[in-house]
Amino acid sequence: MKVCTTIPEARAACRDARARGKRLGLVPTMGALHEGHLSLVRAAKAQCDAVAVSIFVNPTQFGPKEDLSTYPRQLDRDCRLLEGEGVDILFAPPVEEMYPPGGVTWVLVEGLSEKLDGRSRPGHFRGVTTIVAKLFHIIEPATAFFGQKDAAQVAVIRRMVQDLNFAVEIVACPIVREADGLAMSSRNAYLNREERGRALVLQWSLQEARQQFDAGERAAAKLISAAKEVFAGEPQVVLDYFEIVDPDTLDPVERISQKTLVAVAAYVGMTRLIDNLVLNP
Ligand code: PAF
Repeated sequence: MKVCTTIPEARAACRDARARGKRLGLVPTMGALHEGHLSLVRAAKAQCDAVAVSIFVNPTQFGPKEDLSTYPRQLDRDCRLLEGEGVDILFAPPVEEMYPPGGVTWVLVEGLSEKLDGRSRPGHFRGVTTIVAKLFHIIEPATAFFGQKDAAQVAVIRRMVQDLNFAVEIVACPIVREADGLAMSSRNAYLNREERGRALVLQWSLQEARQQFDAGERAAAKLISAAKEVFAGEPQVVLDYFEIVDPDTLDPVERISQKTLVAVAAYVGMTRLIDNLVLNP
């Protein structure tokens, strides 16, 4: 695995792969890799001839009171995992490489960036789209792989790719879960034993919505109120949102008549977790 820490090194390694006729896949990450990330790497390996992974804890997508300073950083361990998966190129730049002093340019997907997580985390998606656009320019992948767990992020990135004519195919890979159903996340590492137990309420609330849907309920308000009752049984977990939306526009839907995203975010102690499922009538 070629490890690059500068933009010129990464560009050269990716150009070299493309020049050898390889279809290049990119898996952008913030490190602290878990099975969810590795499933993206495996999808990229299956669909592309060469795979680049980026590890960069992107400061611009964290709010001033968020966990930028404590976000888990485990580069040596991550490198070993990626070597084991047969990754070709690792791009792990320092902050100054991606954001030299004086930068004033941002990529913002207006409207979408203020929905779901964007409403609770002002500026978050502007940071995500800015760094992902930079990575696309540096790596120039044919395909980029993202986790469906971050469903709003996927919608925002798809819209950026469409509006800015990036020649990148976006693939969203299924959520990977722990044995008890908790969606894998680097932030799960923050949870203590009690919180880890309480965190299951996110998954239970989604399952409740699915059960009501499977039983024939199509009114979004009914599913939302049933899901909120599940949260009422776990008062120490603070619900941020439970929304039923169009997966592309992230606008709320009243009746579920086509593919619909059911998304939840909640604070378990200090840790903000998200999860979702897609309903297909
Ligand atoms: O999903 C993530 O880990 C991050 O938001 C991403 C896409 C790597 C951008 O920093």
